[in-house]
Amino acid sequence: MVSPINHDDVQAPEFPTARGCPFAEPSGYATLRAGGAPVSRVTLYDGRQVWIVTGYEAARQVLVDNEGFSSVRNDPRFPATAPRFAAASKIRNFLGMDPPDHTRQRRPLTSSFTVKRMASYRPGIQRIVDGLLDDLLAKEPTVDLVPAFALPVPSMAICHILGVPYADHSFFEEQSRRIVHGESSLEESTQAFANIRSYMADLIDAKRRERGDGLLDEMVTIFLDSGELTRDELSEMALLLLVAGHETTANAIALGVLTLLERPVVRNELGRTPPLISNVVEELLRLLSIADGVPRFATRDTEIAGQPVAAGDGVIVAIAASNRDTAVFSDPDTFDPHRSARRHLAFGYGIHQCLGQNLARAEMEIALSTVFTRIPTLRLAVPPEEIQLKHPAGLHGVVALPVTW
Ligand code: HEM
Repeated sequence: MVSPINHDDVQAPEFPTARGCPFAEPSGYATLRAGGAPVSRVTLYDGRQVWIVTGYEAARQVLVDNEGFSSVRNDPRFPATAPRFAAASKIRNFLGMDPPDHTRQRRPLTSSFTVKRMASYRPGIQRIVDGLLDDLLAKEPTVDLVPAFALPVPSMAICHILGVPYADHSFFEEQSRRIVHGESSLEESTQAFANIRSYMADLIDAKRRERGDGLLDEMVTIFLDSGELTRDELSEMALLLLVAGHETTANAIALGVLTLLERPVVRNELGRTPPLISNVVEELLRLLSIADGVPRFATRDTEIAGQPVAAGDGVIVAIAASNRDTAVFSDPDTFDPHRSARRHLAFGYGIHQCLGQNLARAEMEIALSTVFTRIPTLRLAVPPEEIQLKHPAGLHGVVALPVTW
């Protein structure tokens, strides 16, 4: 039995912290877990102390209890893990809502993101991947795989699905980079949001006049024609879909390529057994835990795994730590494509569990299997220790991935 922590006598380390290597969890998580408690304290950039949850069961307890732990981002009790999230907190999309608003906005979209629906997008995603690899192979190596492949795959895929003109995908890439990048200032991310918001509002007006067959056109019919949402609310929702699926999946593809380049045995096995790709992708999602540090605040006096938590306290769910809980995943720092990793929390858990997870899986599977089939001699153009990781206050990812073949 681990004794509860008293707020006043804790040395709370800083959050977030950098990762020492692309395949490791953020430094400091091992120390937070060392006392044996799944819950401890950390200090955010603004000096606020919050709870951090590093155990798998405790993480699920918080994420599933949306009455006890709120996601409402424009509530002052919501913990911001970086200054630019003060801008994000002014946004009204369902990622930052509790029921009933969350349910009202998310439910009509679920049928558009099923496994079956995503399977129907696979040929389109395959064409996007093939086209980008044709362009890549026409270049002289060395090439940075991030802008040439990892970033355009998800951005072109979500533009294709939503029915956003292809020609505009580089505009979205730039804006969403400014929104999620760890080093972006508050002003920069606020401006980037404003840019996409005004673009989306214009596009919605155009689709209102002339309906196409993309998801955004369906959303105009479901939400606007019925009077369920205003044009601004719908544009906020479309913006969420665009931004949430961009850099997350791009980082997962770039880091996925890096992970497999460093593991020739897995790569060879994948070459012999192509269906292994779905296990490889689940294990990559677990090991890499791209979206770490999911924030909530307690709505009432409660407890997490026996630790008393007061109403209004901030809580950060450390996904990367929970995905390495030895009670659930043995030898968790090892990349093992034969384990059953699907219980991982890389897409969250509970009512906010990632809406785009089936899309992300399809993109990762197609991108990773095709790149190694088309370019079997693919290799890093720099020593692995020179690969620079993104700022820890953003999503986990690499700044650049120079490759040759
Ligand atoms: C590897 C790629 C991805 C990862 C690791 C990821 C991770 C996550 C996580 C952890 C959450 C839960 C956040 C919370 O509980 O507060 C989430 C929510 C969400 N994700 Fe993803 N995501 C990925 C790709 C995508 C894609 C491709 C889309 C495309 C539409 C998407 C759309 C969303 C949306 C709309 C939500 C909000 C769901 C809600 O609040 O009900 N994500 N994602």
